[in-house]
Amino acid sequence: MSEPLTRLAHHLVRPALGARGRAVDATAGNGHDTAFLAERLGAAGTVLAIDVQQAALARTRQRLREAGLEARVALAQADHRQLGRLTTPAWRGSVDAVMLNLGYLPGSDRSVTTTPEQTRAALDAAGELLRPGGVLSVLAYRGHTGGTEEARAVAAWMARTAQGGAEWRERAAASERGPVLHVLRHPAGPRTAAAKADREEEVPWPS
Ligand SMILES: C[S@@+](CC[C@H](N)C(=O)[O-])C[C@H]1O[C@@H](n2cnc3c(N)ncnc32)[C@H](O)[C@@H]1O
Repeated sequence: MSEPLTRLAHHLVRPALGARGRAVDATAGNGHDTAFLAERLGAAGTVLAIDVQQAALARTRQRLREAGLEARVALAQADHRQLGRLTTPAWRGSVDAVMLNLGYLPGSDRSVTTTPEQTRAALDAAGELLRPGGVLSVLAYRGHTGGTEEARAVAAWMARTAQGGAEWRERAAASERGPVLHVLRHPAGPRTAAAKADREEEVPWPS
């Protein structure tokens, strides 16, 4: 996993996360992103964390327990293509951020990995959940089998979605087989004063 790009993802997602907000980690893995989202949303926030692997959810649960964040997170062992079905209608258009960190669970079975087809479907579902101004972050790895194809599929999805007016940023590692981070922000709609007060000012993209 690329440390700098995972940190950059958090940096760019953070301003979208308000107290009492909602967020989704669609690839819970070791729980780093889930814990980040839960910590940032505060005690009244809710995170849905999804992973196909029981082992990943166990690691995520352990991390949350140690950080005292378990009560803010609903864990679901499921395929992230089911994201729409795992959320109630109230979540449509109301979610601050969705994060995906693709590939396989580090230190585990590498044959259980995200795929372009599943990822595209998960991105479509994530797009339905985001609120105006909400942020979608996807970290794609090109070093493993199928990774380059998946990274291309994500870039194509981002480019298509950005044509609808969303703001899209991409940062690739220097090496051709290194990871690529995509962050997409939905166009901001009118916000209430309370919602504005809850959120930090937007951060500029670091140079
Ligand atoms: C690179 S890891 C995620 C790391 C994690 N975000 C963290 O902070 O530690 C990728 C995860 O995606 C999960 N995964 C693979 N296919 C999936 C699918 N279709 N739906 C949900 N999770 C999936 C794997 O089981 C693995 O745990």
